[in-house]
Amino acid sequence: MHEFARHTDVRAALADPALVPELPAADGGPVGASVAWLRATVARFSSGEPHRRRRAFVETELARLEPAALWSAVAAGTDGEVRVRLVHALAEALEMPQPREVAEAVTIVAGAYFGGADPAADEAVARLVALLAPEDADESALEAAANRIGLLVQACAATAALVDAAAGGNVPLARVLRETPPVRTMRRIAVRATRVAGQDIADGDVVLLDLAAAQSAHPVPVTFGAPPRVCPGRAHALALANGLLQRPLTAFAHLHHQAAPLLLPNAWDYASAAALAAQGFNAIGTTSLGVAAALGLPDGAAATAAATVALARRLGRGTFLFTVDAEGGFSDDPEEVAELARRLYDAGAAGINLEDGRSDGTLASVELHAAKIAAVKAAVPALFVNARTDTHWLGCQEEETAERLAVYEQAGADGVFVPGLSDPDGITALIGALVVPLNILYAPTGPDLTELAALGVRRISLGSLLYRRALAAAVTTATDIRDGRSTDLSAPSYTEVQATSVLRAADSRT
Ligand code: HEM
Repeated sequence: MHEFARHTDVRAALADPALVPELPAADGGPVGASVAWLRATVARFSSGEPHRRRRAFVETELARLEPAALWSAVAAGTDGEVRVRLVHALAEALEMPQPREVAEAVTIVAGAYFGGADPAADEAVARLVALLAPEDADESALEAAANRIGLLVQACAATAALVDAAAGGNVPLARVLRETPPVRTMRRIAVRATRVAGQDIADGDVVLLDLAAAQSAHPVPVTFGAPPRVCPGRAHALALANGLLQRPLTAFAHLHHQAAPLLLPNAWDYASAAALAAQGFNAIGTTSLGVAAALGLPDGAAATAAATVALARRLGRGTFLFTVDAEGGFSDDPEEVAELARRLYDAGAAGINLEDGRSDGTLASVELHAAKIAAVKAAVPALFVNARTDTHWLGCQEEETAERLAVYEQAGADGVFVPGLSDPDGITALIGALVVPLNILYAPTGPDLTELAALGVRRISLGSLLYRRALAAAVTTATDIRDGRSTDLSAPSYTEVQATSVLRAADSRT
């Protein structure tokens, strides 16, 4: 048997189409009534065209489920075994009949999924098929039922193992996944001769992939596999595990785990934030460029800490959720950054953006940035930390982006942000390696909102665009009037601006 334990070799093996999942036991059990039939019919053990078809079906099923709803559903009930609770939540969300019975049968099947013959598990498959497929089901209806069962089976043991490993502590799940991987090894079989990492693999040879060893020496985990077969239930797994661990889902975090991504417009003062909130945006961000430029100060130079806190205090008087762009935290001392985060949270902020880019065009060390994230999460756990890396803007290698973000997730970041990244393949590759929501900066020449959502982007910011557009509108209007050109003068009225922008008298001290 061939064995691979190095990160690059494991990823090369996972990407090689000549290596396909190995069916653990002899095939050929009765159709609709055996684990062997189930395995031969689900995406997990298929390859080629059947795999593409079955995986597409599973992805469509998963797209119907909102991770945030799963998180709340499992957090609400505390009775029963973890595996049953999580499968129950999934079965209910997928509108399956008798979700409790489904969940109990699935846990029995899960115990035999990778093993040999088990009559109780065969019986459980038959019960599940009776519940989930019509009586006169044809081959395609049976395949659909099998893949719905397969989805629940896949969710069962690994998610329960993650919960087990994380229980009793407050370690970020991204770190638990790396340090105690729920899936430690995978097997593949060669369907034709191939060569991986200098080793010749003959047709029919079995390959063991040591995921645990591979990720122990590399920041980017592979416990969820890797593209093109990376686990399609990653977001659901994390949401279920967080819910089962009773980790709170704040209103602002919730917006990152819904079916539609969060579109975050960025304001630079109270009036712009209030005007945007009045248009129904679920949350408002701030733009550090807008805040700095309005005061005649440079952006990214740690010159606006006081102004940023003052703005947060004003925004905190509003009725909308907001998150604050705080450059690199205005300090290289993690404790000072944590103190700033506490002041922002006390002012009412729901989130903070912390970037690793420096004003001199270099990046802060990955360790320092991770230490800032960890210090903020320790001081203010409920503040959503969006960890930004400026690797893309600075032209670093793609691997550096994935590696930095993996470290930031493991330090406790609730989301990660790569401004400047807009190439769909780059976004897909990055998302395949992430477990927390990815934030992308909207680019007028890049993918639109629908495309970004389809790629799996969970938050889309407008950055400094609105501030720059506002400046452009002011200048164009003034110069058009001066030069006698006709100009678009549509604008909110004086009264409307007063109505949305004036803080209550007692609150206007900041
Ligand atoms: C911590 C929990 C989980 C871990 C570590 C995990 C890991 C994995 C791994 C390693 C694979 C195999 C990829 C391959 O064959 O190369 C996989 C496949 C799969 N997982 Fe997960 N998984 C987890 C939770 C879930 C959940 C919650 C769901 C569904 C809600 C799910 C659904 C699936 C499905 C449907 C497949 C088959 C995909 C395919 O063959 O293309 N998993 N998972």
